Amino acid sequence: MEIIVRADPDAVAVAAAERIAAALSAPRPVTLGLAGGGTPAATYRLLVDAPIDWHGVTLWLGDERWVPPDSPESNARMARETFVDAVGATLLAPDHAIGDPERAAAAYAAGLAQAWAERDGLRAPDLVLLGMGDDGHTASLFPSDPMLEVSDRSYAAGFVAAKRAWRLTATMPLLHSARELVFLVTGEAKAGVLTRILEGGEPLPAQLVAAGASHVTWLVDAGAASELSRW
Ligand code: 6PG
Repeated sequence: MEIIVRADPDAVAVAAAERIAAALSAPRPVTLGLAGGGTPAATYRLLVDAPIDWHGVTLWLGDERWVPPDSPESNARMARETFVDAVGATLLAPDHAIGDPERAAAAYAAGLAQAWAERDGLRAPDLVLLGMGDDGHTASLFPSDPMLEVSDRSYAAGFVAAKRAWRLTATMPLLHSARELVFLVTGEAKAGVLTRILEGGEPLPAQLVAAGASHVTWLVDAGAASELSRW
């Protein structure tokens, strides 16, 4: 596991864009899992002018809100507006038109399974970007939420009590199968939970996801790192 601390959110975005460019220089086909929420937007905007050949790159979503694709809440919309449309990349997103979140999650999982490249005999996601909430959730895996326990599917749908909304999310098995996970965490508001996870090992969802076999990098700013005893 790596912890990389940069001065501020913009510096985190620069470092994240560099990490993404490096990962996408791999042989095709290659996949990139996208984090939702607000933090990654600065990184995604930098990708528009990054030296990346988007041919053979499949983008997908670590989680999505159960909203229409044109909703301001949609992670797919945020990705499209910040870089996907500009670079002409392929984004696989859950199909809201299916009409039922659980059926949409199952259909999405089936589509994703076709996207994983076979490398070293393993079909799995390459790099997956993740955010983290101040409660330690990541993707749409929230503390005490039943979706944390899903082990028989790669993508699940559930009504998230903490958000009073349906969410679709990559499950623990899928995230644990990723070659590399990069958590993007910025802001002092997350300093306490980040310290509880990195120094206390508190089994919050982000910690549980990071505890798998993937290579994990925490790419954080000084605000989020401000309570860490060492970095
Ligand atoms: C989502 C995200 C979620 C996000 C965290 C942090 O759909 O909201 O996938 O896991 O990464 O909530 O969100 P911020 O980056 O906005 O703080």
